[in-house]
Amino acid sequence: MSRPTLSRPIAIAPSILSADFSRLAEEVRAVDAAGADWIHLDIMDGHFVPNITFGPPVVKAIRPTTAKRFDVHLMIEPADPYLEAFAEAGADSLIVHAEAGPHIDRSLQAIRHLGKKAGVAINPGTPVEAVEFLIDRADLILVMTVNPGFGGQAFIPAMVEKVARVKALIGDRPIDIEVDGGIVPETAAAVAAAGANAFVAGSAVFKDGPAAYARHIEAIRAAAESARRG
Ligand code: DX5
Ligand code: ZN
Repeated sequence: MSRPTLSRPIAIAPSILSADFSRLAEEVRAVDAAGADWIHLDIMDGHFVPNITFGPPVVKAIRPTTAKRFDVHLMIEPADPYLEAFAEAGADSLIVHAEAGPHIDRSLQAIRHLGKKAGVAINPGTPVEAVEFLIDRADLILVMTVNPGFGGQAFIPAMVEKVARVKALIGDRPIDIEVDGGIVPETAAAVAAAGANAFVAGSAVFKDGPAAYARHIEAIRAAAESARRG
């Protein structure tokens, strides 16, 4: 008889921020074929973060290229006026930042009302307590392991302890703990041991071109799995 497990399934989520934007649909197909569990889409507004990416029309354009979960990370302020548009464009999960407005509880309710998974992200300087009273509205907590805005930054080691605190906070609730920023096999192992189960990776997946996507995704997965086993 198998024992019930309290751990959420491991998910590797390549961030297409590091993909070749001139061939975005092909890039999504390539990471799908290479074993990505989710596709992570970084939405930046040049206001909440010092960079600009893309909006709902691009999400909609690449939606037909894969059946994998579209994990949409909204680094925008305000987020509420755009939730419906991203949902209609094909998001499966919508992640809002705890720092991006005074009514995040309302945002999470709105996301669930749209029939999507509701995620809340916290920046490196934001304490875990920022999500404590939101926990029952959330399907996913995203612990930023870099300051959001750019790919290719170095993992912030203090975030390992933060992941452990989020894990303690959620207990046995069926909530994903996602990490984003500077994830490579070594850092994935550290945060997996602390309780993370979803791993966003941009540069670590895309850095060597399509022939290496599967190898890099599997390296992150293997590191996370073996750290979990202890
Ligand atoms: C950073 C974004 C990340 C980014 C991660 O603001 O939220 O998703 O793409 O890139 P890497 O994995 O290169 O740190
Ligand atoms: Zn992201």
